Amino acid sequence: MRIVDSDVMRYACDLIKNDDVVACPTETVYGLFGSALSDVAVKKIYDIKGRPSYNPLIAHVGEIDMVRELCVLNSKQQAILEKCWLHNNWPITFVLQKNNTGAFGCISQLAIAGLDTIAVRRPNHLIALQLLSQTAIPLFAPSANTSNMLSPTSAQMVIDDIGSKLKLVLDGGMCSVGIESTIVDISADEIRILRPGYVTEEMLMVVCDASIAKKLDGNLAVTNVIAPGMLKKHYSPRLPLRINATNKRDGEAFVGFGICDVECDFNLSVSGDLLEAAQNLYSTMKHIDDCGLYKSIAIVTIPNNGIGIAINDRLSKGSCVS
Ligand code: TXA
Ligand code: MG
Repeated sequence: MRIVDSDVMRYACDLIKNDDVVACPTETVYGLFGSALSDVAVKKIYDIKGRPSYNPLIAHVGEIDMVRELCVLNSKQQAILEKCWLHNNWPITFVLQKNNTGAFGCISQLAIAGLDTIAVRRPNHLIALQLLSQTAIPLFAPSANTSNMLSPTSAQMVIDDIGSKLKLVLDGGMCSVGIESTIVDISADEIRILRPGYVTEEMLMVVCDASIAKKLDGNLAVTNVIAPGMLKKHYSPRLPLRINATNKRDGEAFVGFGICDVECDFNLSVSGDLLEAAQNLYSTMKHIDDCGLYKSIAIVTIPNNGIGIAINDRLSKGSCVS
């Protein structure tokens, strides 16, 4: 894993403290980080991404104590956070009721879209954790890409997309997970997965010692402020994307997985490893988008188990024509 020079990290913290934003790697995708206490920083995040104001941000924290200052946290919820974040180092975001009386009750309201819940996540990445511990405040961070487009899994992907609007991109190399965190609403008795990711329903059931009641789309979780389906197209390459492809059409880049009957231009994992496929997903799409050789993208069916569920969620949103 790459490390960041201490002078660079100091510069990153100075930018954050001065209401600016910094792109920083996490284990899932690169994020665009800004102070959760600053309306100016939050506004910059929304402006740079072109993100609609009704789509709330995840508050990133270095420690569980910080969550308590942001959210109402009972002992059962705290145990779930400890098991997932500290014992298992899982890439998982929790939605909890907001705490208006904690030390960070003054977080920017611009980032929470009028909801009475807050999404919180402890990234399992040395550089992001350094940024969080040295700034010692919660940091809002969406994925560091133009709204609705591919999430970046390398510093170069951030630079190519929004680099001209940023003062600093911290380079941690390729992200190890490659797909955004699982989002789980534990704010009520009923535990719900809002966005699939590396952490699956089965993994959660063991840790939470409960069944997972309902599954919803992460973006539809905010149906009280947006119309259902409004954010259906997401995680999208620029070129049209065709999923569950069994043949290669004219002008298409054909993306395979494992051993394929059709000759592949790219393969997310020759050995059929879903974790490797998740890691390669966005960078492969980005390469096809940029290389100028293809008119569209076709991808084979990806097995719908484990992190494959999250890959299929992103592919189906990326292929949506709306
Ligand atoms: O892996 C990740 O989660 C990355 C890295 C940078 O941490 N972040 C990320 O953020 O994917 P973003 O903004 O691209 O996606 C956050 C999702 C959005 O779909 C948003 O609607 C949802 O989280 N969200 C935020 N606050 C919420 C809340 N209180 N209730 C339900 N959904 C929420
Ligand atoms: Mg995103």
